[in-house]
Amino acid sequence: MSTTFKLDTATSRATPTPKPRKRLTVPRIRDHKKDGKTKEPLVMLTAYTARQAQLLDAHCDMLLVGDSLGQVIYGLDSTLPVTVDMMVNHGAAVVRGSYHSLVVVDMPFGAYEASPEAAFEVAARIMAETGCAAVKLEGGEAMAETISFLTSRGIPVMAHVGLTPQAVNVLGGYMARGRSQEEHEKIMRDGKAVQDAGAFSVVAEGVIEPIAISLTQTLEIPVIGIGASAQCDGQVLVTEDMLGMFERVPRFVKKYNNIAEVIEQTAAQYAAEVRERSFPGEEQTYQPKQ
Ligand code: KIV
Repeated sequence: MSTTFKLDTATSRATPTPKPRKRLTVPRIRDHKKDGKTKEPLVMLTAYTARQAQLLDAHCDMLLVGDSLGQVIYGLDSTLPVTVDMMVNHGAAVVRGSYHSLVVVDMPFGAYEASPEAAFEVAARIMAETGCAAVKLEGGEAMAETISFLTSRGIPVMAHVGLTPQAVNVLGGYMARGRSQEEHEKIMRDGKAVQDAGAFSVVAEGVIEPIAISLTQTLEIPVIGIGASAQCDGQVLVTEDMLGMFERVPRFVKKYNNIAEVIEQTAAQYAAEVRERSFPGEEQTYQPKQ
């Protein structure tokens, strides 16, 4: 059983500072692009744990519990083996660790493609057991019927078009999309289809910049770019990528820090102090009371 979600416990949010604000809602995210224009881009990052969510929450509009956790947390080769249980457990942790951002949880590969009814079962479980506000699924035109089925039954959907990592075996790799006229037209049709089906927003991943701009200008819903364009209505990155946790990252990632080095140096210092018996010191040990 993974019903770990509890609404608002004092302990699970540690010491939230600044003080909890009202959580953003799907209509507020959608309305960010009022009249087809976005003034201030939406900020989205992935989060997989409660503590990570606590640290990111105040800076973001949305936190994505991405199925990228398969690679980032579990060391898997792709997102394909990620399970609904994994998404539920990490989704619940992120909701517990946040109080401001809208939390979106990815539907994993194989959990929603077979039919709209199958997708509903999984999405309803994810929402009930995590407390997230929306689910994300990959696919454009092919998923339109499913998106319409979910949204008309109370499940907000963020779509994901362009480079869709769950389709890596069909696409043949993780290369940028939209270089041919055929791909260009397909991405535009996919965006339009998910919007018409009721998606409140769409991630455009790894699409060449002119297409990302044209998709952003054409759609009424916010287009969240990753490897797309600064002209999109918002941006998302995998947090560990932008923190510099990994040596190799996709070309579209900007490394804002070098967390891997911080961890390695800290572990090396700890190891040295253990080996020379300078840790634990007096402050870290319990002495008999005088
Ligand atoms: O799984 C994920 O983290 C994602 C983002 C990269 C958009 O889908």
